[in-house]
Amino acid sequence: MKILIVGRGAREHALAWKAQQSLLVEKVYCAPGNAGTGEFCTNLNANTIDQLVDQATALGIDYTIVGPENYLVDGIVERFRQLGLKIFGPTAEAAKLEGSKSFTKEILIENNIPTARAEVFDSSRRANNFALRNDMNSWVIKADGLASGKGVLLPKTCAEAVSFVLKNMAGENQKILFEERLQGREVSVMAFTDGYNLSLLPPAQDHKRVFDNNGGPNTGGMGSFSTPELIEKNLISHISEEILKPTLIGLRKRGITYTGLLYAGLMITSEGPKVLEFNCRLGDPETQAVLPLLKSDLIEVMIASDSGRLLGKQVLWEEKSCCSVVMASKGYPGDYETGKRIYGLEKVPPEILVFHAGTKLHGKNTITDGGRVLSVTAVANSLEEAIAKSYRGVHKIHFEGAHFRRDIGK
Ligand code: AMP
Ligand code: GLY
Repeated sequence: MKILIVGRGAREHALAWKAQQSLLVEKVYCAPGNAGTGEFCTNLNANTIDQLVDQATALGIDYTIVGPENYLVDGIVERFRQLGLKIFGPTAEAAKLEGSKSFTKEILIENNIPTARAEVFDSSRRANNFALRNDMNSWVIKADGLASGKGVLLPKTCAEAVSFVLKNMAGENQKILFEERLQGREVSVMAFTDGYNLSLLPPAQDHKRVFDNNGGPNTGGMGSFSTPELIEKNLISHISEEILKPTLIGLRKRGITYTGLLYAGLMITSEGPKVLEFNCRLGDPETQAVLPLLKSDLIEVMIASDSGRLLGKQVLWEEKSCCSVVMASKGYPGDYETGKRIYGLEKVPPEILVFHAGTKLHGKNTITDGGRVLSVTAVANSLEEAIAKSYRGVHKIHFEGAHFRRDIGK
């Protein structure tokens, strides 16, 4: 098979790397990819759905895997399928689970799925009144639509809340949610699904804040880890039975069959796990810490999910730990410069995986080309070993202004 991976981050590099190992696969293409994927795939210059459709048709792509959510929310899956092109992921209607937080809240409440209490407003005047009358330290404010990680505020003051409301409700038909602020530990649980059956991936946790000890602003993710001890086995089956399955059923009641990968961002509260958000695709950086544990054939599992054949499909995972540390450009998540030469990649031993994100080739050199530059990843028998091993990789690599957290996995 010829496989096309859509996206340019470390998640997509990890997907391409795993797809390449499949016995079903002859060649992997990435669009647009990065310097890392360019080492073993053909990178294509395609970014829009139209360009991707054209390239997939011209190259005779047999199967497409989409990394970023915006393509899914914009309907790439139905566009491909209309042309008889096979693709992994939910349709636009199903991807609303990530694309609209108010839609998701309705599904959760209708189906008694545990989540934070919420107030939804479609008028900025009423939203601001709510902000002025309540202690904002007990609430989280969320823009309704996709916001590239900038759509959530944990306000400290009313003034901050009001300015967020105004900024996010400037256009027409905008909605905003005020959500009860939950306390607890956050975990990400992802599952392959054919709309009826689920096959869970090992649980993972990402580190969203830029600095050690969860300091500084939120980022796209500064690292992640997966370890069997992250959540007890009975809690995992509780999450599957009480959260993921009822979500699929709730969607089916509305005539929507969700296929592909379902990602639940959960808070493990004193009352049990509650849904913070759903994503309609693999998490970044969770994927980098989870896919290296997959023993089964990724492409087989994906095809089983989107063809209704997941029931009874055995998906095998290593019972090991994996840690993935992000190296970022100076200034990220704020403004940053690109074009810095990356040194030392060749010194990283092969058992440490370096998934590229914002990188590109400049002549023979690899240079930085984004905020998050690399995800340095290692698998080991214990989490401590996986952490130590991935940092051994990090310390071999240098570029001007590189920064990374020193507490990934802790
Ligand atoms: P989301 O994109 O909805 O996952 O929100 C981004 C981050 O904001 C989450 O990973 C949490 O750290 C935080 N967050 C979101 N909703 C809540 C909530 N109801 N209570 C506490 N923290 C939250
Ligand atoms: N790690 C969170 C996300 O992928 O959105």
